[in-house]
Amino acid sequence: MKPVTPIFSVAPMLDWTDRHCRYFHRLLTKHSLLYTEMITTQAILRSSKRDGYHDYLLAYSPQEHPIALQLGGSSPKELAECALIAQSYGYDQVNLNVGCPSDRVQAGRFGACLMAEPDLVAECVAAMQAKVTIPVTVKTRIGIDQQDSYEHLANFVRMVALAGCESFIIHARKAWLKGLSPKENREIPPLRYEVVKRLKQDFPKLTIILNGGIKTWTEIEQHLQYVDGVMLGREAYANPYILAFVDQNLYDSAALVASRAQLVEQLLPYIERELAQGQLLTRITRHILGLFQGQPNARQWRCYLSENAHKPKAGIEIVKAALAKVKQI
Ligand SMILES: Cc1cc2nc3c(=O)[nH]c(=O)nc-3n(C[C@H](O)[C@H](O)[C@H](O)COP(=O)(O)O)c2cc1C
Repeated sequence: MKPVTPIFSVAPMLDWTDRHCRYFHRLLTKHSLLYTEMITTQAILRSSKRDGYHDYLLAYSPQEHPIALQLGGSSPKELAECALIAQSYGYDQVNLNVGCPSDRVQAGRFGACLMAEPDLVAECVAAMQAKVTIPVTVKTRIGIDQQDSYEHLANFVRMVALAGCESFIIHARKAWLKGLSPKENREIPPLRYEVVKRLKQDFPKLTIILNGGIKTWTEIEQHLQYVDGVMLGREAYANPYILAFVDQNLYDSAALVASRAQLVEQLLPYIERELAQGQLLTRITRHILGLFQGQPNARQWRCYLSENAHKPKAGIEIVKAALAKVKQI
C-alpha cells in the first residue's frame, strides 16, 4: 500500500553532495530529505582535537533542512560522540554508512563490511541513539560477498532494529568487497528490488527506503506502492531537474514547479554571497552542469560553465552569461 507521506531523499555522495550541492537541490525541492557526504568519525574527532570546532566539516546553510549527516565509523564510543556533535549542529538525522565497499573504508573496518558484523552495528546504533534524540538510521546493501541470502539481511535488520534503528535505506544490490571498485559495485551486482519489497512485508513497522538505479517518475511511483520512500543518487545529481517535481508529485499538489531559468536566478544571490566569502565559482557551478539535461541547450550551458567558471576571478557574470546563452535558444 502506498505510504501516506512518502519519504523522498537525495543520496549521500562523496565529493558530490557538499553544502553547495544541497543548497541547490533545496531550491528544487522543499520537502526532500538531503544527506551530507559520508564523513568519518576520525575526521570529525581529529578536527575537534585540532581546532576545537568542526565547522569546516559540518557547517551548512539553514535552508538545507531537513538534512541528515552520514557518518562512517565502527567504534560505538566515537560514533556516539559524533552523533551528539551532529545533533548540536542541528542535523535532523544521523545515518550510519553500512554500504560503502571501498578498500579505504574496509581498511578502517566500516562501510559495507559491517554487514558481516550485525552485533557491532547494533552496538553502534544503540550507543548513538542513547546519546541523541534525533533518529539514528542505517544505509546498507542487500548483502556482501557470499553473505547475500535474504535470511542474512533479515537477521541484520532485525538485530539493528532491536538496538533502536527504525529506518533503513537499502541499496538494492549486494557489494563484492574484493575485486570490484566502488563504481563497479554500483553497476555490476544486479538490482534486486524484490528483496527490499520482501523486507518491508516482513518488517511492516520499520521505515524502509529503497535506493539503487531509480531514474524516472514512473519508477518512483511504482516503488512507492510497496516501500515507505525512495532515495535517488546519480540521477538526482546528473539530472537535477527531476527534483523540481518532488514537491508537487508527492507532497503538495499545489506546489509550483520553477523553470530551469528561474532556478538559476534563485541561486544567484547564494553564489554572490559565497563568492564574497572567498569561495571559488567552480565549486558551486560544478553541481548545476546537468540542470538543462535533455534540453536542446544542455550542451551550451554545460560547456560555457565548464570552460569559464574555473578561470581566475570568475564571478557571477559567468553564470548570467551562460543563462543568457541558453535563453536565446
Ligand atoms: C560519486 C558517488 C559517491 C557516493 N558516496 C557515498 C557516500 O558517501 N555514502 C553512501 O552511503 N553512499 C555513497 N554513494 C552511493 C549512493 O549513495 C547510492 O547508494 C548509489 O549511488 C546507488 O543509488 P543510485 O543508483 O540512485 O545512484 C555514492 C555514490 C556516488 C555515485
